[in-house]
Amino acid sequence: AHQWRGVLREYADRLDVTDATPVVTLGEGGTPLLPAPALSERTGARVFVKYEGMNPTGSFKDRGMTMAISKAVEHGAKAVICASTGNTSASAAAYATHAGITAAVLVPEGKIAMGKLSQAIAHNAELLQVQGNFDDCLDIARDLAANYPVHLVNSVNNDRIEGQKTAAFEVVEVLEDAPDFHFIPVGNAGNYTAYTRGYREELERGISTKLPRMFGFQAAGSAPIVRGEVVSHPDTIASAIRIGNPASWKLALEAREATDGYFGAIDDDAILAAHRILSREVGIFVEPASAISVAGLLERSEAGAVPRGATVVLTVTGHGLKDPQWALRGPDGVEASPTVVPVDVDEIAGVLGLGRS
Ligand code: F0G
Repeated sequence: AHQWRGVLREYADRLDVTDATPVVTLGEGGTPLLPAPALSERTGARVFVKYEGMNPTGSFKDRGMTMAISKAVEHGAKAVICASTGNTSASAAAYATHAGITAAVLVPEGKIAMGKLSQAIAHNAELLQVQGNFDDCLDIARDLAANYPVHLVNSVNNDRIEGQKTAAFEVVEVLEDAPDFHFIPVGNAGNYTAYTRGYREELERGISTKLPRMFGFQAAGSAPIVRGEVVSHPDTIASAIRIGNPASWKLALEAREATDGYFGAIDDDAILAAHRILSREVGIFVEPASAISVAGLLERSEAGAVPRGATVVLTVTGHGLKDPQWALRGPDGVEASPTVVPVDVDEIAGVLGLGRS
């Protein structure tokens, strides 16, 4: 029987993998591209959601990590290091342990979601909570990798971008062309850069006929690219993208230029509103950072920037179970408290408002 073999094997001809590369895979990639009728109805566009929460550790990072860890092992690395807002550390921990090497991860103290913290612990990473923010963690990780025998697996490592570009290949394969627009969350802008590269390669090979306009979104309190300056104290409930000095800033500006793209900022209330729409109307559960793709689409559609009938792909980057607390809070900020009922059919029917059939 055939099963999806992970992105290195599925796209071996499109990546720098040779017979000398030990393939470290947990079966990442091959994620669903789902039509989202509720979003099509709201915008008049043809909207699809690339559901990256379906990867083995629950985020798109696995596409880059299979490549980064495989190449690290190929080069003899015994230990890898990364800075993370949670997903990269979860992924690095899982892939490193699968390869039999050590992952050291630096996360901002008290600022990563519980699900992600538990993943790094479960996979036996050397987990350090740094008394600083993500940008501080990345500075330290780069410094350690430059001066000690540890291999850096943040997206400043090109192997990460290479692995992540495969998501664009999958989109083109399903749609049989590139979309008109691609909406995506932006933190370090590694994934924005990776999709752009993937779409470019598809165009160059004649597999697609166009480049999508790449529309990236940052949280309003953490929007250095939109503001054009480093944000020294980034803030947002979307902890995955609480980043003030994006590692791939320059590459992202080039990608925007090349695709007639856009960077926008979305406030936390709009992120949470989009999170509810995606959960309640589409049936896709994501972490808050991922919902910014939806919020970005709604905002740009409202602004008249997305023509009716345009084909739009939204990447939703991480699974809702990583950071479930936001689902429990209503629009009014009140915590949901499920009704308690006795073991009594009639009473439960009454609470459900059911009349006898
Ligand atoms: N969405 C999620 C769920 C993420 O975890 C991240 C980044 C992004 C979007 C942004 O992607 O950085 O390539 O622009 N998370 C990193 C981490 C920073 O450490 O897990 P980007």
